[in-house]
Amino acid sequence: MKDLKNDLFLRACLREPVERTPIWLMRQAGRYMPEYRELREKAGNFVTFYKDIDLSVKATVLPRKLLGVDASIIFSDILTPLESIGVKFEFREGEGPVFLNPIETPDDILKLKPFDKNDVYYVGEIIKGVNRALNREIPTIGFCGAPFTLAAYMIEGRTSRDFKKAKAFMYNYPDAFKDLLDRLADMLIEYLNFQIESGADAVQIFDSWGGYLSPDDYREFALPPVKKIIKGIKRDYQPVIHFTKGVAGFFDDMITSGADVYSVDWMIDLSEVKEKLNGKAAAQGNLDPIVLYASKDVIREKAVSILNKWGKDTGHIFNLGHGLMPDMEVEKVKYLVDVVKKESVR
Ligand code: CP3
Repeated sequence: MKDLKNDLFLRACLREPVERTPIWLMRQAGRYMPEYRELREKAGNFVTFYKDIDLSVKATVLPRKLLGVDASIIFSDILTPLESIGVKFEFREGEGPVFLNPIETPDDILKLKPFDKNDVYYVGEIIKGVNRALNREIPTIGFCGAPFTLAAYMIEGRTSRDFKKAKAFMYNYPDAFKDLLDRLADMLIEYLNFQIESGADAVQIFDSWGGYLSPDDYREFALPPVKKIIKGIKRDYQPVIHFTKGVAGFFDDMITSGADVYSVDWMIDLSEVKEKLNGKAAAQGNLDPIVLYASKDVIREKAVSILNKWGKDTGHIFNLGHGLMPDMEVEKVKYLVDVVKKESVR
């Protein structure tokens, strides 16, 4: 399919027959690999790294070479497009992203600039570079953050345990908050369309903080802008993957977003996911990443248990319920990939 040598991932996303379950891992291009740390050292900091086309292409293709995964996800961040609309942030060691001009009042939303895709031209070049470097061996996944997750960062100003400021803003100024989500949705439609035009074979929307909401608030605030994005994406075959962390309480709502694939964490049973999707969409996940700190025997047992829950039907992409962590062992990550490939053969 689509001039690819290995199109298993796309076939599973589109629920076409597969010989085995495809696998890729969230945050597969990251610090747990010594080769990544070398590239990062060369780049200086994370922002200069993801703006460097050559180094970002190299980081993107590392997991294919070292782990043998079935898809690449481009090396970038969910915050990348925000610079274009006037949001200033930096990544601090051990702290994550810190915003220098967080949104404090509804007026601050009106000061945001219109998105210009030329400001993120390097993301398009990275996608083209990856497709060249891998010689179309496996599909390339583009991505963005969901409006709620991005808005939460823009108001909170940093990662938080409870997103108190962001949610208080949402309750105090619901109309302004919805206006912000809508502006972000429009920006992300353009951004994802640009990634698809540049050669992305699939796109994933990361709603990492959606699970901090009550089911009512998820339905009112987080879900509508994701639906708008999925409707607005212009695509030929490219599947859309919708990831929400902490989705167990409103999985029924999430699966109305119109995505082709729903990516779930480990707090929901994959048998339940399969039953609820009922052949109408595919699922991605759902291994608890912490399992990778256990012995190989445990890793095998937990991976096989997930494979068994889905069974031999198509429509499942193996992944973690959240990202790999910097202190994980490459050897165990590789072991997981090998186990899934071997144990899922039809
Ligand atoms: O998955 C991949 O391998 C592709 C690249 C990717 C990164 N970030 C690289 C990154 C992707 C898909 C993301 C998405 C992202 N970024 C999310 C959504 C997924 C999730 O984890 O919930 C979020 C919430 C962010 C925001 C972000 N970026 C945080 C909170 C941090 C700091 C925490 C950390 O892990 O250091 C980042 C930095 C970041 N993004 C790094 C990488 C490789 C670490 C950069 C470095 O210091 O080298």
